[in-house]
Amino acid sequence: MQSIYLDNGATSFPKAPGVGEAMARYINEIGANINRGTYKRASAAAMAVLDTRTALATLFSFGGGEDHVVFTPGATAGLNLILQGYLREGDHVIVSSLEHNAVMRPLTALAAKGVSFSRIPADENGLTDPGDMLPLIRPNTRLVMASHASNVCGALFPLEEIAAICAEKDIPLAVDAAQTAGHYPINFDALHLAALCVPGHKGLLGPQGVGALLLDRKFAQALEPIVTGGTGSASDSETQPQYMPDRFEAGTQNLPGIFGLQAALAFVQSRGVETLRDHETALTARLLEGLKTLPLRIAGPLTTQRRVGVVSVDMTADNAVAAYKLENEYGVMTRCGLHCAPNAHKTLHTFPQGTIRFSLGYASTEADVDAAVMALRGIVGAF
Ligand SMILES: Cc1ncc(COP(=O)(O)O)c(C=O)c1O
Repeated sequence: MQSIYLDNGATSFPKAPGVGEAMARYINEIGANINRGTYKRASAAAMAVLDTRTALATLFSFGGGEDHVVFTPGATAGLNLILQGYLREGDHVIVSSLEHNAVMRPLTALAAKGVSFSRIPADENGLTDPGDMLPLIRPNTRLVMASHASNVCGALFPLEEIAAICAEKDIPLAVDAAQTAGHYPINFDALHLAALCVPGHKGLLGPQGVGALLLDRKFAQALEPIVTGGTGSASDSETQPQYMPDRFEAGTQNLPGIFGLQAALAFVQSRGVETLRDHETALTARLLEGLKTLPLRIAGPLTTQRRVGVVSVDMTADNAVAAYKLENEYGVMTRCGLHCAPNAHKTLHTFPQGTIRFSLGYASTEADVDAAVMALRGIVGAF
């Protein structure tokens, strides 16, 4: 049977060429920790870590300096750091209506401690009107945090417009780029972001367990670390160093992951994010056209404008049965359910049944898309 991977929204597959080799090279030939030894292999590891920070800064047009590129275990860890490390009792936050639980669960926990939040409404296709944020701003609004693109329906958040409002009102803007980093160009400095949170294992094509948080210098100082511990620096002191990135990088770093990410970033840079985006946009257009010929609802934008290559459908029959058949009868791997974003489904009117999500990647092909549409056609016919 064919094997077609269309679950890149969960994690990318295949990884970029060279990722596995780079990780194996670190494990088999380097193996040393950083900030803790002065021998040559420790320096080689430290150089690779610095180079990876530089590559991330370059990719996201971030002029804040490599020391403000913080490694995290993933997007979730970075988002938790922003929310828990910045917000205090009495603060108010504005989020989009399509947030992932990586934002909503920590925010709900903070709500129990006196932090309040409002959601900018979105329409039933997941599109947000930036003007709808204005009435939500309060004197105690300390942060706007939004997912750049929905992991459920692919709708892009109007980041430029919201960034302009945040700049005018002097409210820090933190972006969850889990579904756009590596898929869609992001210019940190032009958007005047406070924070950009990226996972290494999705569009950046690196391994699981590593991600990054890019922090504006002023915002970084206002952010308290939520994990403290050894950094290999300032070891005469029992308090966390204030300087970056050590302030937020307690404990041994995921060095195999960072080596893998370094190789992945080299690939992403060599292809170019615009080229990757154009490829995925062309495939998304093809997928949307194919899906429109079937008796199902596409939950999300119906054209490639204002969206990325994450496409959800709601069948008239049982979504779970259809997704099961897609994999077991046609070899098409998708994800079915609520995708950790219940309010996104309420917005899209796909709650509680959820959707079948097709998510494209750099290695997806026209043949993959056509096979997925053909498979769905067969399943619909069989119901
Ligand atoms: C929009 C969004 N935010 C955050 C996350 C969490 O990312 P990670 O699991 O890499 O921490 C995901 C993962 O699916 C996501 O899609």
